[in-house]
Amino acid sequence: MDAPVTASPHLPQTLTGQVVHQPTADAEWWRTAVIYQVYPRSFGDADGDGIGDLPGVTERLEHLARLGVDAVWLSPFYRSPQKDAGYDVADYRDVDPLFGTLADADALIARAHELGLRVVVDLVPNHTSDQHAWFRQALADGPGSAARARYMFREGAGEYGEEPPNNWQSVFGGSAWTRVSERPDAPGSSWERDGQWYLHLFDSSQPDLNWDHPEVHEEFCSILRFWLDRGVDGFRVDVAHGLVKAAGLPDWAGHVRMVEGTDVEEGLAAAEDEVLAPDASDDVETGRSPMFDQDGVHEIYREWRAVLDEYDGDRILVAEAWVEPLERLALYVRPDEMHQAFNFNFLVTRWSPAELRESITGSYAANDAVGAPTTWVLSNHDVVRHASRLGLAETGKGPNGIGAEDTQPDAELGLRRARAASLLMLGLAGSAYVYQGEELGLPEHTTLDDSLRQDPAWWRTGHAEKGRDGCRVPLPWRSDAPGLGFSPTGRTWLPQPESWAALAPDVQEQQEDSTLSLYRRALALRAEHRLGAGAMDLVTAGEDVVAVRNTGEERPAVVVMANLGTEPVALPEGHEVLVASGPLAGGALPTDTTVWLRAQA
Ligand code: NOJ
Repeated sequence: MDAPVTASPHLPQTLTGQVVHQPTADAEWWRTAVIYQVYPRSFGDADGDGIGDLPGVTERLEHLARLGVDAVWLSPFYRSPQKDAGYDVADYRDVDPLFGTLADADALIARAHELGLRVVVDLVPNHTSDQHAWFRQALADGPGSAARARYMFREGAGEYGEEPPNNWQSVFGGSAWTRVSERPDAPGSSWERDGQWYLHLFDSSQPDLNWDHPEVHEEFCSILRFWLDRGVDGFRVDVAHGLVKAAGLPDWAGHVRMVEGTDVEEGLAAAEDEVLAPDASDDVETGRSPMFDQDGVHEIYREWRAVLDEYDGDRILVAEAWVEPLERLALYVRPDEMHQAFNFNFLVTRWSPAELRESITGSYAANDAVGAPTTWVLSNHDVVRHASRLGLAETGKGPNGIGAEDTQPDAELGLRRARAASLLMLGLAGSAYVYQGEELGLPEHTTLDDSLRQDPAWWRTGHAEKGRDGCRVPLPWRSDAPGLGFSPTGRTWLPQPESWAALAPDVQEQQEDSTLSLYRRALALRAEHRLGAGAMDLVTAGEDVVAVRNTGEERPAVVVMANLGTEPVALPEGHEVLVASGPLAGGALPTDTTVWLRAQA
């Protein structure tokens, strides 16, 4: 029996809308691209050690070509002690043996290009690993040395310098400063009695670079060229808002959270509590922290943009910057800076129609003002997967990890909403990011044994935060193979949830209504209708519905409708259904379901 259909007085048969986005005439690939994030240690393993590697990615690139994405972004695969899963780089010009060799990177890039996929690599410029040659030299050469000037070393506060230089907190928890003499490698070394401190906005194994130093600028321009010469199509820039700190490093008592950024209210409260250096007075008005989103970062991106512009083929820079409000983020994508910035505002928006409408409208307004494409993203390697996040009582960014003793997400609700959210996202003009496994509807691993956790946030918060391991579990490929086909030996560096066997691609390929089939269909339609390049109206369709119309030249308009209410809503007449995130109930759009409609000629 069909569910009752709400006769919606709010849903006119002739949909009226308000223009929220007009595309520019520019047609570069990145303005409309769907970019798939590969997290190399968990995508596919070729050598059998249970940790993914570059040959394991290359072997599986056809899955991505078949899926219909335009580009692949690879999280770091450089030489690294892996204290923060590769976001602690010891050598920016080499591949870590865990992941393969430089020849493997070349082969991956070549194969991707053969398949028509662009390749974006990760660049980590805010900090290096403490095993980087520069930091080793800085430790050995001691206070006042030229090598120390490339990092943020300072004398401590207090009578004997026994206090950290300021009160900044690491994003991963605990102080953002470590005293050189207290490093685990200090005993018996030449820095055993060295009283200086160094800044690390993340783990103590990730010392922050000093971006006031010309050698740091030269080095990163050279690293960009190294990878551009090898044929990469762009860079995702890690912590792009962090490189420059407020002069004088003024105290600031707020706490910055990854992806979500600084809570502006909290930032304001923190600023009022502090005696700020005169040149940081801006923070009192904006709530911005002195370690993030300082105006000086933009000069760096202008410098890098000039390097990229020397190369042919539309190479790109993508900012990972947890910056609010959207207008502030848009400054990173002005015409002479980066090409794109991740839209975390959309990711952290709650499953609320009004808030989603506001995020969509605000995102277009801010990016259109600077001529940049708006990006859309729902998951990545730093947040609880959206198939689980949207099944929690409190949607939005969600907690930093979920453990077995925590309230568990409603898996069915989460998946239904995740499919609806993804179909909404893929119908929006601009560029979209897909995190590996979301095309399979993978939930977070929410019952991982604590003894297996590796995220530094788990340790640094004294286990208050579970951390990000649950979204980084090795992917399933074959339902009947050991380790679900992740590796030839069946080994996986983290165990996979049992429920994942039924979600492996070999199973989903056989099912017309699977999440994989939904993504393939949506991506094919998105390409066919050039939805990425469309103009957008926000359509009036009732309080509970997020509805947009995507129009383009020489094609019928596509209406994207997501019902977030508790009752089904009637579909407008005169439209044919292109794709839906779940079954439609007799001409109506059920709760937590999205549909794409095409106006009938
Ligand atoms: C953001 C990355 O996405 C995250 O995984 C990493 O831990 C931090 N930056 C520090 O590099």
